[in-house]
Amino acid sequence: MKVLNVVGARPNFVKMAPLVREMDRRSGQIESLLVHTGQHYDERMAGSFFRDLGLRRPEIDLGIGSGSHTEQVARIMLAFEPVLKSYRPDWLVVVGDVNSTLACALVGARVGVRIAHVEAGLRSGDRSMPEEINRLLTDQLADLLLTPSADADQNLRREGIGPERIVRVGNVMIDSLFEQLAAATHSRIREELKLEPGGYAVLTIHRPVNVDDPSRLAQLLRLCGEIADRLPLVLPLHPRTRERIAQGGAALHPGIRTIEPLPYPDFLRLWSGARLVCTDSGGLQEETSALGIPCLTLRETTERPVTIERGSNRLVGTDRRRVLDAVDAVLAEPWRSGEVSPPTPTIPLWDGRAAGRIVDSLLAHYIV
Ligand code: UD1
Repeated sequence: MKVLNVVGARPNFVKMAPLVREMDRRSGQIESLLVHTGQHYDERMAGSFFRDLGLRRPEIDLGIGSGSHTEQVARIMLAFEPVLKSYRPDWLVVVGDVNSTLACALVGARVGVRIAHVEAGLRSGDRSMPEEINRLLTDQLADLLLTPSADADQNLRREGIGPERIVRVGNVMIDSLFEQLAAATHSRIREELKLEPGGYAVLTIHRPVNVDDPSRLAQLLRLCGEIADRLPLVLPLHPRTRERIAQGGAALHPGIRTIEPLPYPDFLRLWSGARLVCTDSGGLQEETSALGIPCLTLRETTERPVTIERGSNRLVGTDRRRVLDAVDAVLAEPWRSGEVSPPTPTIPLWDGRAAGRIVDSLLAHYIV
């Protein structure tokens, strides 16, 4: 069976690494090609992840780089089409919800290649998010929808997708998380930043809705300043956010410590020792839930409701009172380190073995 795997942006590398390794382990049955669109391209957003997560160098890098959503999707489609046509895989595997996911799925559908979507079925219900459009369309195009949780299956059924196309495999991002727990203990990031376990909070923000509008960003940063009045806040700056803060020129609260985006093991060491995580990221809602670290999601919606029902995530939006009340509630609870080994899976099939189930499913649905 020939498989073409696509990665493009930071969260894709985390999902694809265990999957490619599993395919390599079964090289008697599977030949695979790894294509990187180059949506994320620099050392901090891409390079270190390949090395740290043991993801082999891509055989093909399309070198797309930054641009508007339309430009990115269009450029990826143009560059990807000849690659797909010449390799002609039995499966095209796309992961997550970034622009690279949709662009390559669109080409796959036009060329007539069977498409498998890993992390299918997630819905925030908010079509102003580029990721929601990418999710909806990719799922409509895919032949095999590999879902992380029961809510995702239900979303797909509601949209008229036949049950024979849906397979619940669990969360492959958690495979990377569990694999990297040991490596993360070697990280000295907390010592470098002089942070005591349980004595600080981690903040990440990069969603266009939170950072692209200058007045909204300034308001959010003021609110984060009020959190920093309660405990030190570390903010690894996503390039989009760094750019917007520089453009806005707002002064940050002295209790907010900004740092560069971190390699995976350092970031894991940082957030797993935090008292609290505040974020608008999708992946971090899942990762914190897997280790039981309290997470406050600074958005009005989430496509990952299972992290609220069964994990440690709370959806708090960006309303000042609501956020601060939630912070105070977490600080009133006793702190429990997430760094327990081995971790106990809190959500069904988020057990570190999703990659094996994904590959089994590709083989089972393989049409010669
Ligand atoms: C993308 C994804 C988002 C994901 C996020 C993770 C889409 C629609 N969005 O958003 O779902 O959560 O990645 O990071 O696909 N840049 C660099 N170095 C890089 C890559 C980008 O400096 O290696 C800068 C560029 O200036 C660029 C900006 O970051 O303009 C944003 O990058 P882009 O790929 O457009 O989207 P993200 O906001 O990262």
